[in-house]
Amino acid sequence: MENIHPIFDTVLQREEKEALLKQKSVVVWMVGLSGSGKSTIARALERKLHESGRLTQLLDGDNMRTGLNNNLGFSEADRTENLRRSAEAAKLFLNCGIVTICSFISPVAEVREQAKNIIGEKDFLELSVKCSFDACAKRDVKGLYKKALNGEIKNFTGLDAPFEVPENPWLEVDTEKQSLEECVDIIYRELSRKTDYRQ
Ligand code: ADX
Repeated sequence: MENIHPIFDTVLQREEKEALLKQKSVVVWMVGLSGSGKSTIARALERKLHESGRLTQLLDGDNMRTGLNNNLGFSEADRTENLRRSAEAAKLFLNCGIVTICSFISPVAEVREQAKNIIGEKDFLELSVKCSFDACAKRDVKGLYKKALNGEIKNFTGLDAPFEVPENPWLEVDTEKQSLEECVDIIYRELSRKTDYRQ
């Protein structure tokens, strides 16, 4: 960090940007197995927020891994770095006054803690997208579970790489029990209060 002189205090403030946009910004950090429904919910939620007049940004694991994080794989260290960079990116949007939705497996408590520390506790809303390994494997939208179970993918989350269910999330939805519309409505209801400029 020698010879680096970051300036944070005299830059245009987040509050001024929130005032311009007439909204409060937060980061919704989704957690769940591959195939649990994170991206589907994230896209529908973003559309609903947009239609209600909120400026939003979606950061999604598969997308980030084709761009900013295209040099990272699925080792523990690479996942940690994937989520560190993604949390830093989310923070840029947060500080721009934008409602930011992050959709990453975020498999263990330690990486979620890292993201929370980067973003700041009061703006970090952990959203657990619950779905059992067996149900995700049965859906197998991307065909990855079949490959992983055949030993063609190593370090697969929930199989030979860990997944820790969030213990005390801000919100939880269960995609085995609730429809897409129900999940989105629950999240939207809570989020529209949190992002209301007049609160
Ligand atoms: S995370 O663990 O670093 O949070 P991230 O959300 O970015 O993961 O990427 C997960 C996506 O990568 C999955 O939805 C799946 O499409 C793909 N993928 C490829 N290999 C693996 C693997 N070994 N484990 C989990 N997901 C994988």
